[in-house]
Amino acid sequence: MSKVKWMAGSCLAMALAVLALGCSGSAAGKATPFSEATGHHPSNWIQVHYAGYAATPDQCRSCHGSTSDPAQAGGIAKVSCFSCHPKGVDHPSNWADPLQHGRMGAQLAPNPTDAFAMAGFARCAKCHGSTFDNGPAISCKSCHTKAPHPDKPWLSTTLLKSNHVETDSANAPECAKCHNAGANSSMKPLATPPAGTAPGCFNNTLCHGTSIPKP
Ligand code: HEC
Ligand code: HEC
Ligand code: HEC
Ligand code: HEC
Ligand code: HEC
Repeated sequence: MSKVKWMAGSCLAMALAVLALGCSGSAAGKATPFSEATGHHPSNWIQVHYAGYAATPDQCRSCHGSTSDPAQAGGIAKVSCFSCHPKGVDHPSNWADPLQHGRMGAQLAPNPTDAFAMAGFARCAKCHGSTFDNGPAISCKSCHTKAPHPDKPWLSTTLLKSNHVETDSANAPECAKCHNAGANSSMKPLATPPAGTAPGCFNNTLCHGTSIPKP
C-alpha cells in the first residue's frame, strides 16, 4: 500500500519535472496557480504562496529549483526563493528534535518584529493549522497523537525533559483554544475571572489561578 503510494508520488513528481523542463509546465500549472498566457502567478501570490509550498513543496521546486541549496535555486522560473528568503524557507534539519521545534520554536514568545521568526505557537498555526492538525503542512498530531505538544501531564521532574512550564506565557491565547476554563486539563481554576479577561496562564482564564507563583 505505502509502496504503491510512493511509486505513484514519484511518477507524478517525474511527470511534473519533465513537463516543467519541457517549458510546458501544464501539469504543474494545474496544481500551482500560474498563467501560461501571461507567464505570471496571480497578483495576490505574494500573500498566499507559502500555503502552496507548505502543502506540496515539490510543485514549486519543479520550476524554482532547490529550496535548500542557494547554488541550485532559481530553476526554469529564474526566480530563486533565496532572493527574498536569504535564510531559506525550510525547517532546519534537526527540527524534529523536541528541544528544537518544541523548546526553541513553539514555546518561545512570538516575535512581532521578525515576520519569519519560527517562534511561538501562533507561528506554527500559520502552516500547521489553527488547531494544529488542519493546515497545509503535516499535523502536529502525526507525532503527538493527542495534542500539539507532549501527552499529559507534560510535566517532567527535570527541566531538561519536556515540560510545559518552559512555555512563554505570551502563547496563552493559543493555549486558550483548547484550555479555556481548564478544558482538557486536570488542573482547573478555582475562581471565575472577570468577563473579558485576556487569556493568561495565571489569571484563572486557563488552568492556574493567581496564587500560583510564576516560574
Ligand atoms: C510552472 C512553473 C512555476 C511553478 C510550478 C511555480 N512557479 Fe513561482 N514563478 C514562476 C515564474 C515564471 C515566475 C516569474 C514570473 C512571475 O513573477 O510570476 C515565478 C515567480 C514566483 C514568485 C515571485 C513573485 C513576485 O511577485 O515577485 C514567487 C514568490 C513564487 N513564484 C513562488 C512559487 C511557489 C511558492 C510555488 C509553489 C507553490 C511556485 N512559485 C510554483 C514559475 C512557477
Ligand atoms: C519576491 C519576494 C519573494 C520570493 C521570490 C519568494 N518569497 Fe516567500 N515570502 C515573501 C514574503 C514577502 C513573505 C511573507 C508573506 C506573508 O507573511 O504573508 C513570504 C513568505 C513565505 C513563506 C512563509 C514563511 C513564514 O515563516 O511564514 C514561505 C514558506 C515562503 N515564502 C516560501 C517561498 C518559496 C518556496 C519561494 C520560492 C519558490 C519563495 N517563498 C519565494 C516573499 C518572497
Ligand atoms: C511556513 C510554514 C511553516 C511554519 C510557519 C511552521 N512549519 Fe513546521 N513544517 C512545515 C512543513 C511544510 C513541514 C513538512 C516538511 C518538512 O519536514 O520540512 C513541516 C514539518 C514540521 C515538523 C516535522 C519535522 C521533521 O523533520 O519531521 C515539525 C516538528 C514542525 N514542522 C514543527 C513546527 C513548529 C513547532 C512550528 C512553529 C514554531 C512550525 N513547524 C512552523 C511548514 C511550517
Ligand atoms: C489544539 C488543542 C490544544 C492546544 C492548542 C494546547 N493544548 Fe494542551 N492539551 C490538549 C489536550 C487534548 C490535552 C490532553 C492530552 C492527554 O490526554 O494526554 C492537553 C494537555 C495539556 C497539559 C496536561 C494537563 C494535565 O491534565 O496534566 C498541559 C500542561 C497543557 N496541555 C499545556 C498546554 C499549553 C501550555 C498550551 C499552549 C502553549 C497548550 N497546552 C495548547 C490540547 C491542546
Ligand atoms: C516528527 C514528529 C513530531 C512532530 C511532527 C511534532 N513533534 Fe513536537 N515533539 C516530538 C517529540 C518526539 C517530542 C518529545 C516528546 C515527549 O517528551 O513526550 C516533542 C516535544 C514537543 C514539545 C515539548 C518541548 C519541551 O521541551 O517541553 C512541544 C511544545 C512540541 N513538541 C510542539 C509541537 C508542535 C506545536 C508541533 C506542530 C507544529 C509538533 N510539536 C510536531 C515530535 C514531533
